[in-house]
Amino acid sequence: MTPIFDWKNDINEQELNTIIDSLRAGNLVIVPTETVYGLAANGTNDDACEKIFLAKGRKQDNPLIIHVSNKDMIDEITEKRTPMEEKLIDSFMPGPFTLILRKKKTICDVATCGGKTVGIRMPSNKIIHEIIDKSGIPIAAPSANVSGRPSGTNIADIYDEFDGKVDYFIDGGQCKIGIESTVVKVENEVPIILRPGFVTEEDIKKVCGKVELSKNLFKVVSDNEKVESPGMKYRHYAPKTKCVMIGYDQNQINKINKILKENKSKGIKTCFLGFKEDRDKIDIQDDLFIEMGSKENLASVSQNIFTDLRKVDKLNCDQAIIEGIEREELGLSIMNRLVRACENNVL
Ligand code: TXA
Ligand code: MG
Repeated sequence: MTPIFDWKNDINEQELNTIIDSLRAGNLVIVPTETVYGLAANGTNDDACEKIFLAKGRKQDNPLIIHVSNKDMIDEITEKRTPMEEKLIDSFMPGPFTLILRKKKTICDVATCGGKTVGIRMPSNKIIHEIIDKSGIPIAAPSANVSGRPSGTNIADIYDEFDGKVDYFIDGGQCKIGIESTVVKVENEVPIILRPGFVTEEDIKKVCGKVELSKNLFKVVSDNEKVESPGMKYRHYAPKTKCVMIGYDQNQINKINKILKENKSKGIKTCFLGFKEDRDKIDIQDDLFIEMGSKENLASVSQNIFTDLRKVDKLNCDQAIIEGIEREELGLSIMNRLVRACENNVL
C-alpha cells in the first residue's frame, strides 16, 4: 500500500523533505492543487516525466502542464513574453489558469512531447506551492486520473487508480475548485481559450478587452487530426457507464422523463445526474438520482462534478442520463466536462 501523508490541516516539514527527495530522485507523487489533484514529477527530468505517461496510460502527443511558484521560474523556463501574455500572468496567476508559452530547454522534451511550447501554471494551493518553492523544481503534473477517467478531486476517489504506481499520496482534502485550470494561448495578442475552467471567458474579457473560444471546445476530433491542444481530442472524464446528455432547453424535463419511461419499459437500468431544483419534476427513484447541487451555485457544482461522475459506475446501471445547463460563464466549463463525459452524445 502506498503511504498517504495527511496534510489536511498542516504541512509536516519532515514529510515535506521526504516528498522533495522523492521528486529529486525522479519518482511520482500525488499532490493536491486548488483545481484537481496532480500526478507530479520533476519537469526537468525525462525519465521522471516518462513515468507519468506510463502511470496514466497517456497518449504520447499530449503535453504536460508545468507548475511554478513565482515569475522568476517562468523566466527560467520560457522565452520573452508579449504584453498580453504578461497581462494574463499578472491578472490570473497564482490561480486556476494555464498559459501556453514558448519554451526554453530547461523543461524536458518528454514533458512537452517534443513541442516548442509549454503550458505554465502557478497554483494558489499552499501545499503544491510550498513543494515547488522549497525545492525549486518545476513540477510536471497532469490531472491525477487514468487517461479518459474523471479527474480526481479527493484521495479516496483516486487511491486505487494509483496505489503501487506512485511513491506517496499527499492528502490536502477536497479540492476547492474541482475542475481543471482554464488553458489559454495568445495569438496576435488575442487570448484564446483552449480549455474552459474556473477563470471564465467573461473574466478574461474584463481584463484584456478581448478573448476567443477555441472552435474545438465541444467538437469530436479524430485521433489523427491536429488541434491546438491535444487533450481536446481524447475521450475524457467518462464513467464506464454509457452517459447521455439532455441539453438545456424549454422542453428538457419532458424529454428526460420520456427517456426514463422508455428505458424502464425496455428494462434498461438508468440513473440520472441532475440539479436540486428539478428533483421533484424527475420521475426516478431516490437511489438512482445523483444530485449535482443547485444551478444557483455553480461553484459548488464544479467542486463536486468529478466525484458525482465517479458515483455513476457505483450504481451498476446500463445508462446514465445527465441534465444539461446553459453554456455561459462557469456553466460553459461545467458543460464542457459533462458533454465530454457523454462522448458528445447530446440529445
Ligand atoms: O488544473 C489543472 O490544469 C490540472 C492541475 C493538476 O494543475 N492539470 C491538468 O493537466 O489538468 P492535464 O494534463 O490533465 O491537462 C492539460 C491540458 C491538456 O488538454 C493538454 O493537451 C493541454 O493542457 N496542454 C498542455 N501543454 C500544452 C501545450 N504546450 N500546448 C497546448 N496544449 C497544452
Ligand atoms: Mg486531465
